[in-house]
Amino acid sequence: MIELHGLTKRYGERLAVDDVTVTVRPGIVTGFLGPNGAGKSTTMRMVLGLDRPTAGTALVNGKPYAEHRDPLRQVGALLEARALHPGRTARAHLQALAATAGLPRRRVDTVLELAGLTAVAGKRVGGFSLGMGQRLGVATALLGDPATVVLDEPVNGLDPDGVLWIRTLARRLAAEGRTVFFSSHLMAEMAVTADHLVVMGRGRLVADVPTAEFLHRAGGDGVRVRSPRATELAGLLAGPDVVVESAERGVLLVRGVPPEVVGDRAAEAGIALHELTPVQASLEEAFMALTADEREYRTEEQPA
Ligand SMILES: Nc1ncnc2c1ncn2[C@@H]1O[C@H](COP(=O)(O)OP(=O)(O)O)[C@@H](O)[C@H]1O
Ligand SMILES: [Mg+2]
Repeated sequence: MIELHGLTKRYGERLAVDDVTVTVRPGIVTGFLGPNGAGKSTTMRMVLGLDRPTAGTALVNGKPYAEHRDPLRQVGALLEARALHPGRTARAHLQALAATAGLPRRRVDTVLELAGLTAVAGKRVGGFSLGMGQRLGVATALLGDPATVVLDEPVNGLDPDGVLWIRTLARRLAAEGRTVFFSSHLMAEMAVTADHLVVMGRGRLVADVPTAEFLHRAGGDGVRVRSPRATELAGLLAGPDVVVESAERGVLLVRGVPPEVVGDRAAEAGIALHELTPVQASLEEAFMALTADEREYRTEEQPA
């Protein structure tokens, strides 16, 4: 469990994290979503005691990180910047860490296996691809068999296989009853990975909701319309409750009007349509809608 209370971090004039209060619960994957610069990494660093809050507190499993006597068993983290000794092999890197933290040696083989690195365990990490480096980062995070797992943009640099692997792993860790806090600036990734979403924008908490509710609240089901006279059609559809975006040349995404009305208006004006497709709100659109007006909402409901 991670509990943030009024967590604030100021770098000079810049409020990187602005009064964030949120609880990240065990047993589910919590997606930590926000555009670059939103304050996700800074928040995670404060959880891990790597950065000191300007105000507020960050507790992990009930205590500040620094007060745990067995921190690697409490929380495992994959952070953005990795400092690995390039001349060491993956196995040597993990063995050194395990020895320092007083963790059993057999965990090394377990996490190498978990991360799909067994075959390359004897290779120097200096020669690792970005994806293999990420896998080693995950192996490192899991070394202490921690109750809480913090993954900062773990999908970055992974190929599609790697993305699927990390998603499956996150879900499995949550199913084992762990707290999984998983950041990404990729909305689509979160829709399929996270049960619950904590969304940040410019340092502030903008949402703390179940993923399903986030999508539902966006209420953004719309209609994709393709027409050689798209601009003209956009003008005809304009109204107070109608949102028309132009995704690409000749294509409109219309919200607030059902497909039949779009079709009828076009027909009345003699405008040909080459496509008229109902579309469900994507997480990305929901996120944009949410951060656009920086409206704050939260829900008291929590998944069981
Ligand atoms: N060590 C630092 N010194 C000064 N500013 C920082 C530092 N770390 C982060 N920031 C600033 O804080 C804001 C949040 O950054 P960050 O937490 O890295 O966001 P995210 O991980 O969501 O992309 C950004 O404006 C960033 O430039
Ligand atoms: Mg970051």
